[in-house]
Amino acid sequence: MSTRKLLLLPGDGIGPESMGEVRKIIAWMNEVKNTGFELDEGLVGGAAYDAHGAAISDADMEKAMAADAVLFGAVGGPKWDDVPYDVRPEAGLLRLRKDMKLFANLRPAICYSALAASSSLKPELVENLDILIVRELTGGVYFGEPKTITDLGNGQKRAIDTQVYDTYEIERICGVAFELARTRGNRVCSMEKRNVMKSGVLWNEVVTQTHKAKYDDVELSHMLADAGGMQLVRAPKQFDVIVTDNLFGDMLSDIAAMLTGSIGMLPSASLGAPDAKTGARKAMYEPVHGSAPDIAGQGIANPIAMIASFAMCLRYSFNMIEDADLVEKAISNVLDAGFRTGDIMADGCTQVGTTQMGDAVLAEFQKLSA
Ligand code: IPM
Ligand code: MG
Repeated sequence: MSTRKLLLLPGDGIGPESMGEVRKIIAWMNEVKNTGFELDEGLVGGAAYDAHGAAISDADMEKAMAADAVLFGAVGGPKWDDVPYDVRPEAGLLRLRKDMKLFANLRPAICYSALAASSSLKPELVENLDILIVRELTGGVYFGEPKTITDLGNGQKRAIDTQVYDTYEIERICGVAFELARTRGNRVCSMEKRNVMKSGVLWNEVVTQTHKAKYDDVELSHMLADAGGMQLVRAPKQFDVIVTDNLFGDMLSDIAAMLTGSIGMLPSASLGAPDAKTGARKAMYEPVHGSAPDIAGQGIANPIAMIASFAMCLRYSFNMIEDADLVEKAISNVLDAGFRTGDIMADGCTQVGTTQMGDAVLAEFQKLSA
């Protein structure tokens, strides 16, 4: 039995309750499938701030660096609205992404047919939607320097964020997008704002060159990011893989999330480069939804995004493709059977809480595994 080291960082809000449902699945897999997951746990976000005065402690950062994969819940909440900017809950998430060099963020937006009616778009526009947003995650305006607010001394202040991309950053993220496209619809759409941003000009140029040099079997198109947002709500099924920068990826993935019926459904994977010797890559898996403080602690949160993030972990970190498929199939079957948390509730369905939803997915996974 091989050891698979997982670090759980449940975080704040609905993070811990969603993570609890994944914990059950892992415990069962260890017991019955002999999967040898070794769990450790740490604090991130407001929880870490309360305990250590930092959004993640150095000790927990070390654990994250040593783990085969990190499962991340959510961070933030009104309780920490007034903490200093550099220790705000989100800083823990950003440090994990940056220090672990998780440059590739995979955000699939899949609309289960059972949920097509929950989308704000017409069901026929989203039914069976399956797109993948590949978001650059360690560069761009999130991390570019200078990043300052300066007092100009005349009653005015000046705020600066810097959008910066080097060739290698664009090359490696579009490489990930092209590789993934080959495993699915074989189409990539690259989004930037080359009409106003120099970083957009370079982005477009490097994606075009990389495509020509190494991936010309994949169909490539380019779209301005604002038009891309519009096309996502006009005719989302035209897309297969979308590759874009950190900030546009943040916004476009929230838009894509809502197409699927609820942001409570969407998982994500953040991956580093494969190690030259072992091929292993650092990785963190997190739901796209946030900490949802308004419903935290009530046992009503939708744990599906967290469970689906674990499925991505099985797929990308441990190459346990069959189990990943079964977990995803279990989610889909449970939805087909009419189980719904409040966020995706519909007429004629059975409304359940976090625990019941987790139990239903686990029971289905057990059945499918038999
Ligand atoms: C996301 C979130 C984060 C981001 C926040 C919490 C810092 O919105 O993962 O999409 O902006 O990247
Ligand atoms: Mg976001």
